[in-house]
Amino acid sequence: MTIRKVGILGCGQMGAGIAEVCARAGLETVVMEATDELLDKGLKRVAGSLERARDKGKIDAAECEEALGRLSGTLDVGALSDCDLVIEAIIEDLELKRQALSELDAKLDSAAILATNTSSLTVTELAMSTSRPGRFVGLHFFNPVPVMRLVEVVRTLMVEEAVVDTVVDFVKKVGKEPIRCRDNSGFIVNRLLIPYLLDAIRAYEEGVGTLEEIDAGLRLGCGYPMGPFTLLDFIGLDTCYYIANIMFEEYREKRYAPPSLLKQMVQAGRLGRKSGRGFYSYE
Ligand code: 3HC
Repeated sequence: MTIRKVGILGCGQMGAGIAEVCARAGLETVVMEATDELLDKGLKRVAGSLERARDKGKIDAAECEEALGRLSGTLDVGALSDCDLVIEAIIEDLELKRQALSELDAKLDSAAILATNTSSLTVTELAMSTSRPGRFVGLHFFNPVPVMRLVEVVRTLMVEEAVVDTVVDFVKKVGKEPIRCRDNSGFIVNRLLIPYLLDAIRAYEEGVGTLEEIDAGLRLGCGYPMGPFTLLDFIGLDTCYYIANIMFEEYREKRYAPPSLLKQMVQAGRLGRKSGRGFYSYE
């Protein structure tokens, strides 16, 4: 099976990035959002990013126009019915995802593949809310999607091997490197990344160093592009808190338990770059 038309449910930071790479790769791409306002904002996000890529000379003007021409938006789930692959990229909330996936499942052709961009929920649980667990995978992209080269392709016990192969080909087509991994909360990357970020907060709470010193340590000592606090602010403290709670729930191990400083910062609305303040100030 070859993927020609892709649907993307949710056009926030991740959904918009996925839509951009699909449209740039020559695939017909339709994004679905819940309201006119969110759809408009999401489509503008994709267009803005494509125009920035054009202005930086990464794509030429014709490629930018063509990619925009392949992109459309809808509020109606029926508009995704002829997609070969639909990727769910809505908020990390089990009940909302289950509901959205089951509605989508009812509209799609039986041959279509459904994927979730979940970062911490188990793909199995989401697959079982549809009638097609054999045609359901995890496709975990990384932020910022146009830049980060990795996509985790997550296989469950139920998925058909041919579906995994089709999705791996799709990931390569959109210019990314696939790695296959088994379904478990956090897959490969977040299983290692989240405890590292939480440990950095604990080290800071214990007074090991300042935010800047800890960040400089990892950046300059290990060559990481961002230190842990810059990365926490970049991902969003609410997102990290949410993922940590889901992983703690799954593994019941202390290394996944969110430190109280993280919880308090989320409660205080200090969510990182997106709110103007997290560990650092962006105002
Ligand atoms: N969209 C498109 N391009 C972008 C971008 C965006 N949002 N942000 C940066 N870029 C591009 C820039 O245009 C620039 O391209 P160029 O070199 O060709 O001109 C390049 O990326 C480098 O950007 P900058 O010079 O502005 O800044 P940096 O050198 O600091 O790079 C970064 C920015 C790529 C974000 C880099 O700091 C980085 O790799 N940080 C780590 C990001 C990371 O770890 N992401 C994973 C998060 S975890 C996750 O997503 C999983 C989830 O489940 C939690």
